Amino acid sequence: MSPSDRARARFGRADLLFADPVPRHPRLDGLTEIGRGEYSVVLDMGDGARVMKVVSSPADYFLYTADDRPQGPHFPVVFADHGVIGRASNGYLLHLIEMERLHPIAAHTPAAQAANALMDAYWAGCRKWAALGPEMGRVALFNLTEAPPAGVAGSVLDALRALSDFIDAYQVRPDLLSEGNLMMRGDGTLVFSDPVFLC
Ligand SMILES: Nc1ncnc2c1ncn2[C@@H]1O[C@H](COP(=O)(O)OP(=O)(O)O)[C@@H](O)[C@H]1O
Ligand SMILES: [Mg+2]
Repeated sequence: MSPSDRARARFGRADLLFADPVPRHPRLDGLTEIGRGEYSVVLDMGDGARVMKVVSSPADYFLYTADDRPQGPHFPVVFADHGVIGRASNGYLLHLIEMERLHPIAAHTPAAQAANALMDAYWAGCRKWAALGPEMGRVALFNLTEAPPAGVAGSVLDALRALSDFIDAYQVRPDLLSEGNLMMRGDGTLVFSDPVFLC
């Protein structure tokens, strides 16, 4: 097991799944669910380019809609905020976001190499700063941007810095380890599709 696999197994939150049914909504009628995480459900729009994401985490909602959200090649393209479509059993509002369709990171690609390098370094930082408790991830991410490992450079490093600034400004936490939080675009670009959570 590689360090990033071990990190995912120990710190990833991917085995917790949002349990609510998809709310009835005209924009979701007939769409197929293709992904589900701890706070979201993703439905295929059938055109190969876009998905509808039902988002219950305010952290995700800020990331996709705030005027000062991080943008650039490593963040998902958001086409529309379709507003509130219900309330989740966890108490949060359900927002409907139309965004670009992304893909699992294919093994042995540059995106996979960058993702593994940054997950390994982030995991090492989490272990180093574990005594900080809930601040561990934020500090680990900040230190990663200050002293990036080989393989985390250029536009990926710029994106990590923008993410770290966003996380500080919105008082949310990073989650770079859960399965599916880092994805890739059809052209092979690494995308931080779901890199934050609230608590
Ligand atoms: N833009 C997308 N295109 C296609 N599948 C996606 C997209 N975003 C997320 N997914 C899939 O849905 C799953 C849950 O999405 P995620 O963004 O991790 O939600 P959560 O906030 O619940 O963790 C992911 O693991 C991934 O498989
Ligand atoms: Mg996720």
